[in-house]
Amino acid sequence: MLTHPIETQRLLICPFDLKDWEEVLAYTSDPNVMVYIPEGQLTEEQTKELVVKNLDEQATAFAVILKPGNKLIGHMLFHPWFAPRTYEIGWVFHQAYHRRGYATEAALALLRYGFEELQLHGVIATCQPENIPSYRVMEKVGMRREGFFQKCIYRDDTTWWSEYFYAMLEEEWFRTNERKQA
Ligand SMILES: CC(C)(COP(=O)(O)OP(=O)(O)OC[C@H]1O[C@@H](n2cnc3c(N)ncnc32)[C@H](O)[C@@H]1OP(=O)(O)O)[C@@H](O)C(=O)NCCC(=O)NCCS
Repeated sequence: MLTHPIETQRLLICPFDLKDWEEVLAYTSDPNVMVYIPEGQLTEEQTKELVVKNLDEQATAFAVILKPGNKLIGHMLFHPWFAPRTYEIGWVFHQAYHRRGYATEAALALLRYGFEELQLHGVIATCQPENIPSYRVMEKVGMRREGFFQKCIYRDDTTWWSEYFYAMLEEEWFRTNERKQA
């Protein structure tokens, strides 16, 4: 849930617009980007569905716009998880924009929003151990590795994915981050 768009130094995190699907397809159709996304590479139709199902207040994924040029470069997942006041966070960015700190910048802004405005108890994130960029983002924003589940996700009869589980609690956020000035 986002009650308002979130602006960072370089980015705007906001609800999708219907017309965004083409810019989203530019990276959801890229097998390199989608290799660790459970749904895998998306078709045009699946990408349109992703955008359409995230247009209202039930949205779980949000567009990330690079402010100079107003370019959609990826999306962030941010939605309730199983426990009360607990959210899951995730990220998918166009390959042309990797390794510039954008995912970290967007994740920090959503953690701030979650802990300081939504008063969350905790935020969790998961990724495969091979997905170094993803767990580097988790670590750079201060999340802790809490678990390593070996071969816990069934892919096919010969393939199981392992998973790292990371988390941050509200007291950890407030210990290391100053409250945003009103
Ligand atoms: C995960 C992802 C969102 C990261 O986005 P990003 O904007 O490049 O992330 P950042 O630039 O903020 O940080 C990435 C970090 O990973 C590091 N990194 C990237 N590739 C790496 C590699 N092969 N080995 C070691 N470190 C690597 C970067 O150096 C950086 O860390 P640093 O700042 O300490 O140097 C992006 O790689 C992506 O979209 N991947 C495909 C989708 C995906 O797998 N999403 C996560 C599913 S769980």
